[in-house]
Parts: sequence; structure tokens; C-alpha cells
Amino acid sequence: MEFFNQIRSILTVGLILFFVAESAIIQISEAEAKKWLNKYNVDAEKYFFEATEADWNYNTNLTDYNLAISVSLFSNDLANFTETKAKEANKFAWKNFTDELLKREFSKITDIGPASLSDKDFQRMSTLNSDMTKIYSTAKVCNKPNDSSGKCYPLDPDLSGVIAKSNDLDELTWAWKGWRDASGKLMPDMYEEFVSLLNKAAKINGYEDNGDYWRSWYESPTFRKDCEDLWLEIKPFYEQLHAYVRRKLQQKYPKLSFPKDGHIPAHLLGNMWAQAWNNIEYMVRPAPDLPSMDITDELVKQNYTALKIFQLSDQFFKSLGLIPMPEPFWQKSMIVKPADRDVVCHASAWDFYNRKDFRIKQCTTVNMGWFMTTHHEMGHIEYYLQYKEQPINFRSGANPGFHEAIADIASLSVATPEYLKSVGLLPNFVDNPSGDLNFLMNQALSKVAFLPFGYMIDQWRWDVFSGQTPRSQYNSKWWQNRCKYQGIYPPVKRSEFDFDAGSKFHVPNNTPYIRYFVAHIIQYQFQEALCKAAGNTRPLHRCNVAGSKEAGKKLSELMTSGASIPWPKVLQKLTGTDKMSAKPLMAYFKPLIDWLKKENQGQKVGWDEKCPPGSL
Ligand SMILES: *[C@@H]1O[C@H](CO)[C@@H](O)[C@H](O)[C@H]1NC(C)=O
Ligand SMILES: *[C@@H]1O[C@H](CO)[C@@H](O)[C@H](O)[C@H]1NC(C)=O
Ligand SMILES: *[C@@H]1O[C@H](CO)[C@@H](O)[C@H](O)[C@H]1NC(C)=O
Ligand SMILES: *[C@@H]1O[C@H](CO)[C@@H](O)[C@H](O)[C@H]1NC(C)=O
Ligand SMILES: *[C@@H]1O[C@H](CO)[C@@H](O)[C@H](O)[C@H]1NC(C)=O
Ligand SMILES: [Zn+2]
Repeated sequence: MEFFNQIRSILTVGLILFFVAESAIIQISEAEAKKWLNKYNVDAEKYFFEATEADWNYNTNLTDYNLAISVSLFSNDLANFTETKAKEANKFAWKNFTDELLKREFSKITDIGPASLSDKDFQRMSTLNSDMTKIYSTAKVCNKPNDSSGKCYPLDPDLSGVIAKSNDLDELTWAWKGWRDASGKLMPDMYEEFVSLLNKAAKINGYEDNGDYWRSWYESPTFRKDCEDLWLEIKPFYEQLHAYVRRKLQQKYPKLSFPKDGHIPAHLLGNMWAQAWNNIEYMVRPAPDLPSMDITDELVKQNYTALKIFQLSDQFFKSLGLIPMPEPFWQKSMIVKPADRDVVCHASAWDFYNRKDFRIKQCTTVNMGWFMTTHHEMGHIEYYLQYKEQPINFRSGANPGFHEAIADIASLSVATPEYLKSVGLLPNFVDNPSGDLNFLMNQALSKVAFLPFGYMIDQWRWDVFSGQTPRSQYNSKWWQNRCKYQGIYPPVKRSEFDFDAGSKFHVPNNTPYIRYFVAHIIQYQFQEALCKAAGNTRPLHRCNVAGSKEAGKKLSELMTSGASIPWPKVLQKLTGTDKMSAKPLMAYFKPLIDWLKKENQGQKVGWDEKCPPGSL
């Protein structure tokens, strides 16, 4: 899954610098610059820590008081610090430095994002960000069909649970529509104002708009085109998967008439956003007679707790010779939903920038999804731990996609039958080719079903930032992308009175999304390289690197450099190529792709780009 809290991303710096106040520059030596940097890094740790801690306190206890403290620390102390230091840094002729690393650090310190806004604007932006996140995190839906209790239900675990498990169309529609009415629908005006402030900051910093700024983190003039090419390479596979799943859903819901142009109703795929389809695995399993690879029952049977899942995850990283989760992690993480207060349940991994404090916040329930999410979040923490001795501005992924790819890397090994058997969670596994197809189908339902979703969100948002999509088209453009890329359509007619983008966490929370698309592709490049290091002889999808110190060493090399080296070089060092490639992903899924093509022979594959008539 794709969770990585980035409330702090509004303050952490980007990578490319297009502006500098030339007139203010005075000549100071590089040695002086290094001295200045040492002091900067000490001070920065303090400001980053304090703001992060306040942000944590708010996220794990949603009170107005905690919000006020957090906003104040961000918008007064940290923003002021960031801005003041950027100005100081720009007094150095850092663009002419001969030390490349030093130059890179300065370029990051001076590229300050929204901290360049006036105090008033910055505070307004932070408040909008918090308010929207709060609406999202506290939204509840009442009037459940056939439920006279009068209860109202939050997204997690209730509404998600309905979408995941129910086959009752009334109930599914209630949860799907209700969630959107209670969350996104309340925020389009706030979002519009928020966008204008982000754009204002981006322009001050010399970018065309906020999308231009976000894309700059990828340090590549061809980034947009590269993503499009990757998507087009994968699309035929997604179409096959989509066609097969659509057929099974039609069999499951014979009374529901699916539109002729090929789209799937968005509420039938087991996930509130139709972004991962594992919850309907049982409907589409290639060999239905074989047991599923789902370990949920086994986890429950063996009395697993959230803590035990965390310990097992820690064990995986240790087996590679990587860094164990430190003591404060175990003391301070929030790993189950507290009963006594509102929290932001959305899973996230936190670096407190003091080199000691790292935490996960999530509302774990004991099932396979959370088992995987725990490994994902802990992967982020492992990256934080590996680069913690870097200067503060290099403490991030080589690019944002790297962070998510590393977070997912454990799951590729941990999901294999080899691994699950070795930890006693798949006692009845029998190895045969049909079982392999079941396994790959389950992987595809999470990793491949996700790709068009991962791609479309920022396609939408970049167009909003650039002004190409005005407020009056927020929702229609959102659905045009959903219909075009995912091949789904809204089960309830939508209009501009709705704001369905706001019902996806990363939009109100302002976490960029293309990173997840990138991550879902490059993680297979990473895995291929790690498996090679581990001396794996199995097909890629059955490679489990647990226990391999050689793979661990490769991984550690990648992680320790943080953002100090441009990502193509980091990728080259691990994989031998400096380009993103979908080939390892396609190789991983080859047996399933071949099987789907056979199954779909003579059947309709694909869908119209446009949404079905009458849905918007
Ligand atoms: C939540 O925050 C409030 C301050 O608004 C504080 O009084 C309370 O003790 C906190 N609750 C917990 C469980 O930390
Ligand atoms: C802003 O930061 C500078 C340097 O860090 C400090 O001297 C100044 O007092 C701060 N101003 C405010 C309003 O906090
Ligand atoms: C940087 O170098 C360029 C070209 O060598 C020179 O024109 C410019 O004045 C230098 N800038 C500063 C601030 O020293
Ligand atoms: C609700 O009640 C109706 C009519 O009694 C029934 O047809 C439907 O299946 C029920 N739905 C659920 C979710 O129980
Ligand atoms: C799980 O807990 C139940 C009830 O407390 C107990 O009977 C059972 O032996 C436990 N199972 C395992 C595998 O520990
Ligand atoms: Zn993540």
C-alpha cells in the first residue's frame, strides 16, 4: 500500500533551483560555507524535531489545542527558520562551488517551497491543509441500510469494511456515496484556495506552478514523458486483468447491467477508491479449488497481535543484516487505534530528524493487508535509519518514488510462499503451477490494478495546478481520468457539487502521488537486482531475499546515500541501468499475463476512454 505521511513535505525542500537573488551575493569561501552548514545542520535538527513532534501530537490526538501548537510551530518557527536560512545561504556564491556535494546541499537549502510565502499566507495554507485533513479523518456516515441503531460510521474500519466484504449493492452504494458526501464534498472551496497558495509559493520560487515544482524533485526534463511511456508499456497487461475481473464481476452481480463501453462500476472492486482489488480475490482466483494465499485466517488462528506483526517485520530487516527498529520506536509508535480520541488513522512512517526518534502511526487490525502495510511502513523507517547520518537536507529518498519502492521491497519477499511457510503462516502450501497463478493474481490485484490509479491522480492534480482544470471542472476531470485510465465509472451520478478527489487522503493532505506509480515500477527493478545478489535461481516472483546479507548490503548501499546523489546514479549502481524500466515488472508477471491472454481470447478487452453516458 502506498502510505507515507508527508505533511512535512510542504516544508522539506525540492531539488532544482531556478532562481537566486544575484545582487545579494558576496564572495565567501567554500570553507566558510562548510562551517556555516555545520551550524545550520545542528539548528535545523532542532526546528525539524520540534515541528514534527507537534505534528505527531496532533495527528495522534486531533484536538484544536494540538492543532494550534502544530500550526504555530510550522508557520512561525520552522517556516521562519527555513526562509531565514535560505536567504543566508544565498549570500554564498554556491552555484560556483567546485565541491558538487556542497553545491547540492545549498541548492536544497535554498529551494524552500511554501516557506517562501508571507507569514499570513503560510499560516492560511497550513490551516487549510490541517482543516481538510481533519474533515477527512473525522468524517462519518450515518443511516446504514437496514440499520436502526442510528450509528454513524468512520472510514476505518467500517466503511472500508463494507466495501471490502459486502455483496449487497444497496450497502455498497451507501458506503461509496456516503463517504464522498461526508468528506470530499465539504472541501472544494478550501481546496481551490489552497491550490492558489501553493501556486503562489511555486511562482515566488521560480516555478511555473506547483506541479512544475513537484516534478522538479525528479531532476529530469523528460520525467512526464517517461511516466507516460511506462504506463503505455504496462497498459495492455492492465487491460487483460481488467477484462478478466470485469467478466467475473458480471457473473457475481447478474442483476446489475454493466455499461456497454466496458467500464466497471467503481464500488464493486473491494476498495473505496478501486485502487487495489485484493478483497475480491476470491471471485477471480485462477484455480478456485486451491487454497488462497491469504494468511489472514492463519494470523487470527495463531493469535497474532499488532505488536507481533511488528516484531516479525523487524525480524525480516534484521535477517538482511539491516538496522533493527530502535528502542524509542517501540515505545512511541502508535500501532493500534486508540479508543479514547480521534486520530489520523491513515498509516504513516515518521522521521523526527534527531537521529533517534522514528515512529509508525497506524490503526492495525490483524489481517494480511495490515501485515503488508506494516512491512511497508517499516521499510520507510529502515530508509530513515540508513541515511540518518546524512546532512538534514539529504535525509530523503533519492527521489520520492525511491522511498515508496524501498518501503515495498520487503513485501515482494514476504509475500512469497517460501517466506510465509518459513514463518509458519502458510502451513498447507502445495507447490504447483496453478498455485503460482493464484499467487500472481493476488499480487496483480494489488500492484497492477494500482498502476492507472497511481498514474491518474497527479495527472489530475498537475492540471489543476497549471490552471488547465478550473474549479468548475474539478470533478468532471477527475472522473474523466478515472474512466480513461482505470476503466471504472461512478455507480452514482456525479456533478460539480461533488469533489471526489477530496475523498482520497493524499489530496486534502497534499501528499504528491506520482511517487507511488514510480515506486510500483522501480521496485521490481530493485527486486531483480537484490535477487541476483542473493543468488536466487527461482523465477522473479518466487524470489525471497530474507536472510541474504548480500542483498542487505546492496540495499543498505542504496539507502545510506539518501538524496545526496542524483537518483539515476543510485539506480545505476544497484541495477546497472540509470533508466526506469517496466521490464522487470512484466517479467515478474509473465506467467499470469500469458494465462490471462488465453482466458480472454474471444472476449471483449478494453473500454471507451470517455465515461459512460449519464454518469457525469
Ligand atoms: C490530547 O490532547 C489534549 C490537549 O488538547 C490533552 O489534554 C490530552 O491529554 C491529550 N490526550 C492524550 C491521550 O494524550
Ligand atoms: C526568525 O528566525 C531568525 C533566525 O533563525 C530569528 O533571529 C528571528 O527571531 C525569527 N523571527 C521570528 C518572528 O520568529
Ligand atoms: C560565478 O561564475 C561565473 C562564471 O565563472 C561568474 O561570471 C560569476 O560572477 C560568478 N558568480 C559569483 C557570485 O561569484
Ligand atoms: C435490507 O432489507 C431489504 C428488504 O428487507 C433486503 O432486501 C436487503 O437484502 C437488506 N439488506 C441488507 C444489507 O441486509
Ligand atoms: C490462541 O488463544 C486461544 C484463546 O486464548 C487459545 O485457546 C489458543 O491456544 C491460542 N492459540 C495459539 C496458537 O497460541
Ligand atoms: Zn509509503
